Amino acid sequence: MRKKSIKDINVENEKIFIRVDFNVPVKNGTIQDDTRIVAALPTIEYALNEGASLILASHLGRPKGRIVSEMSLKPVKFRLSELLNKDVLFAPDCVGEEARKIAENLKPGEVLLLENLRFHPEEKENDPDFSKKLASYARIYVNDAFGTAHRAHASTVGITHYVDEKVCGFLMEKELKYLVDTLQNPERPFAAILGGAKVSDKIDVIENLLNKVDKLFIGGAMAYTFLKSMGKNVGNSKVEEDKLSLAKEIVEKAKEKGVKIFLPVDNLFSSEFSENGDIRYISVDEDPPDGWMALDIGEKTIQIYLNELSDCKTVVWNGPMGVFEMDKFSKGTMAIAEKISQLDAITIIGGGDSVSAVHKAGVAEKITHISTGGGASLQLLAGKTLPAIEVLDDI
Ligand code: 3PG
Repeated sequence: MRKKSIKDINVENEKIFIRVDFNVPVKNGTIQDDTRIVAALPTIEYALNEGASLILASHLGRPKGRIVSEMSLKPVKFRLSELLNKDVLFAPDCVGEEARKIAENLKPGEVLLLENLRFHPEEKENDPDFSKKLASYARIYVNDAFGTAHRAHASTVGITHYVDEKVCGFLMEKELKYLVDTLQNPERPFAAILGGAKVSDKIDVIENLLNKVDKLFIGGAMAYTFLKSMGKNVGNSKVEEDKLSLAKEIVEKAKEKGVKIFLPVDNLFSSEFSENGDIRYISVDEDPPDGWMALDIGEKTIQIYLNELSDCKTVVWNGPMGVFEMDKFSKGTMAIAEKISQLDAITIIGGGDSVSAVHKAGVAEKITHISTGGGASLQLLAGKTLPAIEVLDDI
């Protein structure tokens, strides 16, 4: 999967169409988290320094093919302008006469941001005519939208059929380096920590990682399906009844493959799904009181997980250990976040809730790579390819 990068081509005095993922949370016109905009800066700044002019395109939210003013990219134009310390032009529609004119008149070093691609249904339909219209702005296409690389849309796949050159941006390269190359060639011991609500969401990831890791740690609500499949009493905890035999098979497979699989030996139970109930640590060999549910891994489990992580040289983490949004049930997730940040290892956070967890723990700076993609990173962790990457030029 060696793909050309923007560094492999000449962009001087060229117009470049860059697909970015500026799908950031916006509330009342204010950007709540600009991580994804900041993550795209290296590519944008590099291209500008090389003397290119840029047409940037992104989606924001899921407007279902209609114009939804709350999902306008206008706030992003202002934030990007601040970050680049230069004016960013804005086209109020991603296609049409106005956008075409602005794009045509762009001079080297100028940046145009197009309005939300998903205001047109043709974007998600991967419509050829719409793809051609997007491609008409530039001869060169750069994809730096890792978070959207699992979607085969007009701006991520269709457009690539109508441009001369199609390459990765630096963010895309970095994501592939850690989520593909490192996983293929990890320094060992290699550990994966998987949490979150459902076994069903992570089944492909577990199956793929069982072929690669030395240790697999399970936490979050997903762990209760595993524990129940082993005959443990998990009380009222969240369980996927139809995944019990699958969970059992996974544990057996891990043993066959020589992977050490770790499940909680105790959990923090609560009498209700809130911070107002009674709470108690309960071993998996004890019966919880009627109606109680587990909402975090227990203290003994935390100790075991931390000890076992100590010698690991590569760690991939996806999914929290408990309901960490509630402080009472955040101890397991916070302990893992802190431990990972202290390891002398390559540490990779595979998007989603675990990203919020490392920020909440204040350790994000100490993590080797925090992915900007949720669905896209899960697909790579599952060993699958991404449609938007497959279509880029090979080296
Ligand atoms: C994301 O936030 O995961 C990406 O921007 C993709 O968005 P989507 O799930 O709406 O396609």
